[in-house]
Amino acid sequence: MHSPEIFPALDDETSLQLNTDGELRHLLTLKGFGRGMLTELLDEAEQFVSRPGRKAIRSRSLAGRTVANLFFEPSTRTRASFDLAGKRLGADVLNLDVNTSSRKKGESILDMIYTLQAMHVDVMVIRDASAGVPAFIARNVDQHVSILNAGEADVSHPTQGLLDLLTIRQRFGKFEDLTVAIVGDIAHSRVARSAAQGLQTLGVGELRLISPPSLAANSNEMPYAKNYDNLALGLRGANVVMALRIQRERIADLDGIPDGDEYYRHFGVTADRLRVAAPDVIVMHPGPMNRGIEIESALADSPVSVITQQVRNGVAVRMAVLERVSRIMASN
Ligand code: CP
Repeated sequence: MHSPEIFPALDDETSLQLNTDGELRHLLTLKGFGRGMLTELLDEAEQFVSRPGRKAIRSRSLAGRTVANLFFEPSTRTRASFDLAGKRLGADVLNLDVNTSSRKKGESILDMIYTLQAMHVDVMVIRDASAGVPAFIARNVDQHVSILNAGEADVSHPTQGLLDLLTIRQRFGKFEDLTVAIVGDIAHSRVARSAAQGLQTLGVGELRLISPPSLAANSNEMPYAKNYDNLALGLRGANVVMALRIQRERIADLDGIPDGDEYYRHFGVTADRLRVAAPDVIVMHPGPMNRGIEIESALADSPVSVITQQVRNGVAVRMAVLERVSRIMASN
C-alpha cells in the first residue's frame, strides 16, 4: 500500500499565478485579483459568448498547443466546457480517463504531471478532491506549462466564479447596489468561496450567505458577508439568488445535516419564497442541481432562472482563460 499524498497549504497562490511581467500564467484562485484583472477577463469572455442557434465562436489562437483535462472528481459542465473551449480555440485536447490512469496504480500526481509534460502538454486543467493540488502542481511544472484550477476540494473554483460574475454582469451591468444571496451548503462550497471573492472585489452592494447552522461557513472566513439561518429574511430584497446543493461527498459525519425533505422545507428556493426578493430577481445554480431539494423544479426552468446562461458562459469564460494564459506561451 502506498502512502496518501499530502499537499501543503500555500499562502502565495496569488503571486504564483502571475509571471514576472504580471501576466496570468496559472489560474488557481480569484483571491487577490484586482478589479482590473477580473474586469478584463469578463470582457474577454464576453467576446466568446456564442448566441443560441448561431455557430459557436472559434479562433486559432491555441493552434499547436495541447490542453489536458485531468479530472479526479466527477464533472459534466466544467470538463465538457474546457474540452469545447480548447477545441474552439484550435488546441489539441486530451481528456485523460482517470479511472484507467496509472494514478490508480499508485503513480504520484507529480510523476503523472511530468509524464504529460514530456508529451508537450502546455495547459493542464485540474480538478481534485484534495486542497492544495493545483498550486502544488503549478510550483513543480516547467516554465512553459500553465495550470488551471477546475475545482479544488471546498477551496476554490475560479472559472465557476468568473462565469457567475459574467452572468450577473450581463443582467445588471454592475455589481454595486446589488444584493446577492447564496443559499445552501456554504461550508463545503468552492463555488460560494470563488463567487464571494469575485463579488467582493467587484464591489457588490451586499452579500448574504444563507444556510442551516450545520452548513454555515466559519464566521471569520468571509467577514464582508452577512450570515442568515432564515431563508425568508435572507431573500428579502435580493437581486440575485444562487442555490447550492449539499456537498454530501465532502461531509464525513452526516449527523445533524438535514435530509432532502427537511432541507427543502426550510431552505429550498421556490417561486413562492422569492416573493420577498427584488422584482428583478434572477436565480442561479452552478449545477449539478437536485430538483426538489435546493431548488423548486419549475423555478429552475422559469424565466427568472439564468442557469442555462451560466452554462453557456462557462464555455466563454474557459476560452478567455485559455487564451489569456496562451499569450505568454506565444512569446516562448
Ligand atoms: N458547476 C460545476 O462545477 O459543475 P460540474 O461538477 O458538472 O463540472
